[in-house]
Amino acid sequence: MVETRPLTATFGVEYLDVKLRADMADDTFADVERLWYDNGIALFRGQTFTETDIIGFCRRLGDLEIHVRQEYLDPDFPELLQVSNKMEAGREVGILKDKELGWHHDQSYMTEPAIGSMLCAFQLPAWGGDTHFANLADAYEALPETVKVRLDGLRALHSYEYFNGTWSVPTNENQANRTPPVLQPVVRTHPITGRKSIYVDPAMVPLIDGLSEDESRDLLDELFDWIVRPEFVYRHQWQPGDAILWDNASTMHRRDAFDPASIRLMKRTTIRPRPELAVPF
Ligand code: SIN
Repeated sequence: MVETRPLTATFGVEYLDVKLRADMADDTFADVERLWYDNGIALFRGQTFTETDIIGFCRRLGDLEIHVRQEYLDPDFPELLQVSNKMEAGREVGILKDKELGWHHDQSYMTEPAIGSMLCAFQLPAWGGDTHFANLADAYEALPETVKVRLDGLRALHSYEYFNGTWSVPTNENQANRTPPVLQPVVRTHPITGRKSIYVDPAMVPLIDGLSEDESRDLLDELFDWIVRPEFVYRHQWQPGDAILWDNASTMHRRDAFDPASIRLMKRTTIRPRPELAVPF
């Protein structure tokens, strides 16, 4: 059994003595995977990363997505998306730069969205850049019964271009064709744990399908206020050698702006769900 401590009173786990390696022992891996799903986010501290080990470990959790933003992939390891403000030879090597980043789920704009992501801190800025996570399974369970009934069966539009319009840069034509907006259930059932979570966020979701514009806006605003209540949120202050694995079915995340004069270099895997459970339900 791996040694752990909780990150908050209600969710998140830190593994105390686990090295992220492709050849992690099977029983350790089984504990790590189960505790991650049970806790929504999982922290590994003090790692000495190699890209090969990160990819090898994450592949044991699921197939890895080669992100549609090819211009920001690690040139030697396309399974890794570089999240960074770093420039090389006059070119931005990473996505999402140094500004604040709003609450979102990774890839909820795909018909089969990523189940998980793992972000690894290679270089950290002098200040800022904390990442915040919200536990949307607890947020769903704490909703009044009347609201749960109201959400039942609703679907919301998730749009990558809507996200890019506020928080990132537009895709090219080919990338846009591969990422059209999709409808997802407003409440999804976790494919592994079976728990229900709220599955809308302010950055990716402009509307709820089938409601009038006003009704949709009011309901989304009500949910967006609810899901960021402090009791559902963990704020992570990065240390060198940290890696965080998060569950995109039960949590969403956002990032603070950081010192534009220093470099923040993070590398992220995007983990695909098992095919038979890939479409949110
Ligand atoms: C992300 O949303 O993938 C990046 C979060 C961060 O930069 O902390």
